[in-house]
Amino acid sequence: MSALIQNWSPAQKADFGKTPMVFEHGLLGTGLFEDAALEQLLDVYPAELFDINLFDFDAEGQASMRTGARGRLPGKDVLAGVKEGRIWVQLRGAESWYPELRTAIHQAFAGISEQVAGFRPVQLTGQLIMSAPGAKVPFHADAPGVVLFHLRGRKRIWIYPSDEAHMPQQGMENIMLRQQTEDLPYRRDMDAVAKVFDLEPGQAVTWPLHAPHRIENQGVFNVSLSVDYQTWNTRMINGAHYANGVLRRWGAPIAPMSKTPAAARAALWGASLGLKRMPIVEDRIKSFERSFELGPEAKAERAQG
Ligand SMILES: [Fe+2]
Repeated sequence: MSALIQNWSPAQKADFGKTPMVFEHGLLGTGLFEDAALEQLLDVYPAELFDINLFDFDAEGQASMRTGARGRLPGKDVLAGVKEGRIWVQLRGAESWYPELRTAIHQAFAGISEQVAGFRPVQLTGQLIMSAPGAKVPFHADAPGVVLFHLRGRKRIWIYPSDEAHMPQQGMENIMLRQQTEDLPYRRDMDAVAKVFDLEPGQAVTWPLHAPHRIENQGVFNVSLSVDYQTWNTRMINGAHYANGVLRRWGAPIAPMSKTPAAARAALWGASLGLKRMPIVEDRIKSFERSFELGPEAKAERAQG
């Protein structure tokens, strides 16, 4: 048995990937997430994999995001800034750039595979996230499967059904075609059907592929590790959405993914591999404008323009 994942109940085993669920993890035992370790990591992490985000929310809770650069602040000051502000820092590519964490991620997923018959991830991508006491992540959906390992602080997550009312299929096609970011239209009344979890350090949460969700920190500094996973099944589905998105632009009728048989999904996925090599749709979100910078001369964020 993996040291990082305990035995799951029959209900947990049945729920994985099918309904939102919480389970215990042992990642805190690695000691990788204390202040001193995080400060050292922030000092050396490659700038191109280092995102600093600041969200502004309107009255309906709809968000706009500004992305910033780290500037020349030492890791100690970046961490202090996160603890004080509304910002969150995301270190992408943790599975490549942080060997100790790569080992932990692989052990944790090996543990999950022991619990869930047939669960075989073929790709794992980790983001280590440090976020401010008042930080929120707006309503959105992720293209890959996700397991969010919570490490420090407290956060509340709302997870919504991945049905047409909350996650329109065309929206997912646009995400695959990189025609929109992963943010989606959100209304407060959607909360009535959400599953809500208050996450404590040592707990992980996961949900069905493409289920939209949003997160609010509960007044304290948070550290979490978000791991994206792909299996052959998620690759087929996402490739099929990509191909459907192109076909829809060509005026073809598109069947609901839930009614698309596996063989048809596989054919669409095959088509997507060719389509991706053709310059059909322009990538609209190649780069977010970096609109503020953390640094001694720019204490608060500096709006551009
Ligand atoms: Fe997400």
